[in-house]
Amino acid sequence: MSGLRVSGLERLTAGRGLLFGGDYNPEQWPEEVWAEDVALMRDAGVNLVTVGVFSWARLEPEPGARDFGWLDRVMDLMAGAGIAVDLATPTASPPPWLGHLQPETLPVDASGHRLWYGSRNQFCPSSPVYRERALGLVRDLAARYAGHPALALWHVGNEYGQVCHCDVSAQAFRTWLERRYGGLDALNAAWGTTFWSQRYSGWAEILPPRRAPYLVNPTQSLDWQRFCSDALLDHFRAERDVLREHTPDIPVTTNFMGLFKPVDAWRWAAEEDVVSNDCYPDPGDPLAPARTALVHDLMRGLAGGRPWLLMEQAAGAVNWRPHNLPKPPGQLRLESLQALARGADGLCYFQWRASRFGAERFHSAMVPHAGPSTRLHREVRAHGRELRRLGGVAGQPVPARVALVFGWESWWALEEPGRPSDRLRADEQLLAYYLPLWERGVGVDVVPPGAELGGYALVVVPNLFLVTDRDADALTAYVRGGGTLVVGPFSGVVDPDGHVRTGRFPAPLRAVLGASGEEWLPAAGEVGCRWRDGDAFTAHTWTELMAAEGAEAVAGFTGGDLAGRPAVLRHRAGDGVAWYVATLPEPAALAEVMARALADAGVRGEVAELPPGVEAVRRGEVLFLLNHGAATARVDPGGRCEDLLTGAVADGPVTLPPRAVAALRRRT
Ligand code: GAL
Ligand code: ZN
Repeated sequence: MSGLRVSGLERLTAGRGLLFGGDYNPEQWPEEVWAEDVALMRDAGVNLVTVGVFSWARLEPEPGARDFGWLDRVMDLMAGAGIAVDLATPTASPPPWLGHLQPETLPVDASGHRLWYGSRNQFCPSSPVYRERALGLVRDLAARYAGHPALALWHVGNEYGQVCHCDVSAQAFRTWLERRYGGLDALNAAWGTTFWSQRYSGWAEILPPRRAPYLVNPTQSLDWQRFCSDALLDHFRAERDVLREHTPDIPVTTNFMGLFKPVDAWRWAAEEDVVSNDCYPDPGDPLAPARTALVHDLMRGLAGGRPWLLMEQAAGAVNWRPHNLPKPPGQLRLESLQALARGADGLCYFQWRASRFGAERFHSAMVPHAGPSTRLHREVRAHGRELRRLGGVAGQPVPARVALVFGWESWWALEEPGRPSDRLRADEQLLAYYLPLWERGVGVDVVPPGAELGGYALVVVPNLFLVTDRDADALTAYVRGGGTLVVGPFSGVVDPDGHVRTGRFPAPLRAVLGASGEEWLPAAGEVGCRWRDGDAFTAHTWTELMAAEGAEAVAGFTGGDLAGRPAVLRHRAGDGVAWYVATLPEPAALAEVMARALADAGVRGEVAELPPGVEAVRRGEVLFLLNHGAATARVDPGGRCEDLLTGAVADGPVTLPPRAVAALRRRT
């Protein structure tokens, strides 16, 4: 964690207020257009633009050449207009000449096929040639713009996630493994290579999990995913260090992609000064509002509770889904304010002006092809301007008494092939347990396994398939000390090598849960269940043969071979309570589990009654109410409030038409 990390974004918002802007690609336009861009930006309240993300071929038109003239003019123009620049290192898309002259810099897939230039992201994370070329340009870029008045933030690469299976990567993997295991014996033991005659007799035999005749070794694959995330992180660090040498005071970020599997964002966030994210909710997905809220909460968690930056969102439709639904009027504002409410201090878009050519010519932008006199641009402008009313929110925390535990290693380990069911997914479980909290307006922090839990009244572990002894012990200690814990199915199953923990499951949590199981039983269809004190409900996909060992079976299975067996268990342990859910209950039933756990923990939502589709979240002194539903809603915030967006002061319920937002501050 760098010293800057806690203050990275504060440096930008100090004096500027909330940040508003987007990716700006002036290299796609003649310079006459730039002047109009700046005028429109000022009019819309733009104060931050990301420049140069895909400009390598422009900056280095041939090997070793430099053409900074155009970028000098862009930087000066922005400085003159008082617009800060988030300057990108253009290393996400090397020019064709690099792949042409040195094809070994191009990535190779698991089948051994090289991926070519003509798109983007075509580099091998472990290639020393790519590294040297990238750092050479980054060094010159940093030297040139160090001290430039427009330079406010560094944007390293773009959306890291590249994977390469080439021989160079194989060698880097071996080096990584040597560091992890010390010797081959330890590696053979960890990978369980007595299985299927996979024993390695020399380091040179070890490969990435390339395409093979049948299932690959799950621990090899788990280590490969750890390595791939680390290899990219190593490259990120190398660029960051060059930037820091030249501009120690300029914060450094790279844009995440939310719940993106290839990159262990917990490890990455610790290496950057500002956490930033790209977020493209699907307008056709009814769960998008909750899914997006979850990702925003994850970003705030990655930032250690400090503000984060929404680096990219779409003003309208994207162009990379098969059928791209537009955002209806009001939606861009609603989504942007949702990020603000959940801790973002900057709301930026991809991109400023819609491209006329290239693969994204049908992607929306802040200035559409039809120009500024359009519905969409008017909405952008109005939104940019209204943010001035919310400047006081910048830097404010989002309080939460509930922690949701999520880690990448466990995600990778859970989803290795050859498991009981590929329908039990870590990200889906995370959302399933988040949803009832979101629906009640309960503040949630997303935390990594092993996080400090002392400050939380409720800790929810939707799935922790892989768990270390230490992290399991910490969960136990948390409950014994008075906390409330909810654990979802197929948790505590393997150790960090992916080896099954033998004995009744979940072995390391058995004592605290007061329950244990002996068989995982994927279900053919719906499974009947009943609360001990009442109604029937259904579960699906997954069941477990459990026995209570001190816990109370608060719900049981009613049908099939499991009839009479526990489905949901509650155990008083020490001063706290532990819940175990041995199936995937239908959403209403899982909401009931969570309601009971919230009651155990004494946690309530931000407002007493929240209509469906309305999101309630507190940031600092402001209660945000966001109507994602199709109907007009009325919400009682419980007292006299001023809506910072309109200035109106009212007592009693607030009326929210579809897509409306209220930002309420209590008034006496
Ligand atoms: C992001 C990317 C941008 C642009 C955008 C389109 O993944 O960082 O460069 O491609 O998506 O939605
Ligand atoms: Zn490679």
